[in-house]
Amino acid sequence: MSDPLAKLAPVVRLAPAKLNLTLAVLGRRRDGFHDLHSVMVPLALADRLSLALAPTDPRATDSLHVEGFDAGPVADNLVLRAVGGARRAVGGGWPGGPGPTPPLSLRLEKRIPVAAGLGGGSSDAAAAIDGALEAWDAEMDGHRRLATAARIGSDVPFFLAGGAALVEGRGERVQPLRGIVGSPGVLLVTPGAALPTSSVFTAFAERAGRGDGSVRMTSEHLAGEVGAGLRTQDLLARAGVLAAANDLLPAAVAVLPGLVPFRRALFRVLGRPVGLSGSGPTLWTLYPSEDDAAAAATTVHEALAAGTLPPLGVGDPTVVATTIPEGTRP
Ligand code: C5P
Repeated sequence: MSDPLAKLAPVVRLAPAKLNLTLAVLGRRRDGFHDLHSVMVPLALADRLSLALAPTDPRATDSLHVEGFDAGPVADNLVLRAVGGARRAVGGGWPGGPGPTPPLSLRLEKRIPVAAGLGGGSSDAAAAIDGALEAWDAEMDGHRRLATAARIGSDVPFFLAGGAALVEGRGERVQPLRGIVGSPGVLLVTPGAALPTSSVFTAFAERAGRGDGSVRMTSEHLAGEVGAGLRTQDLLARAGVLAAANDLLPAAVAVLPGLVPFRRALFRVLGRPVGLSGSGPTLWTLYPSEDDAAAAATTVHEALAAGTLPPLGVGDPTVVATTIPEGTRP
């Protein structure tokens, strides 16, 4: 028997950031999006979303309160679009109506840098779909969940699936992979410069329009290895190859030229291969553990204080040490 009081407690979801270990862009599609081949892993760094049933007032609507990093206007937040999409998909009434999908009062703690290439907004949307269904005690089959997620954004299906995955199509084809064995550390350095995903893809289309093929080969190879379970030390041994396995890097640099000297300086400071996450501008380096990544974060802060990293965008970059959590599937 379900506990009637349980409904009073909010549903809480952690919405992890992601890292593209590889990102091959295969070409532009008729719908304007690009076909991808990308090995993606979730990170321990996560936003926190709580969803509570709001009082059923006929005028009530879904509401969202955001804390932490500035995520822009609340009305544009993907969380509200995701809740609306989930409500339509379960055939619920209108917010405030008597249907089975009453309005939700949502709180989002943004801990993932925004518009950074870390998938935070998409992850929040996936968490909102999943959390809203639980709050409403509503069912939705996997196929409809996926379709609802894909309508919100290209990265949302990956987050809905959870865990390491090979992502293809525009992002809607998600094949779960066993993942990384162990918990490698990851340092994320996000310059305070805007780099909208759409601008990077537009620059990509105006340039080559497709990757050079080598990234795809790296990505296919890595998908096989992560599919079998890739040990941390073997991942680290591939860091140099992976740091070059992003077809969007030249396009990101075309939009934000300062990324080149910034990345080069970061390489000099850290002495490790530096990759670009997704469409950027976040740069990453890999370590044996989260503690090692935290030590590297201190090194970056010291370099910033000493002026050995060139300025890029507004203010200092955001520096976060995190980990790829042990999340291997059987
Ligand atoms: O789907 P999402 O809203 O995240 O995509 C943002 C923009 O990035 C799209 O408008 C599109 O220009 C570009 N994009 C693309 N191919 C993809 C994913 C995104 O061209 N697979």
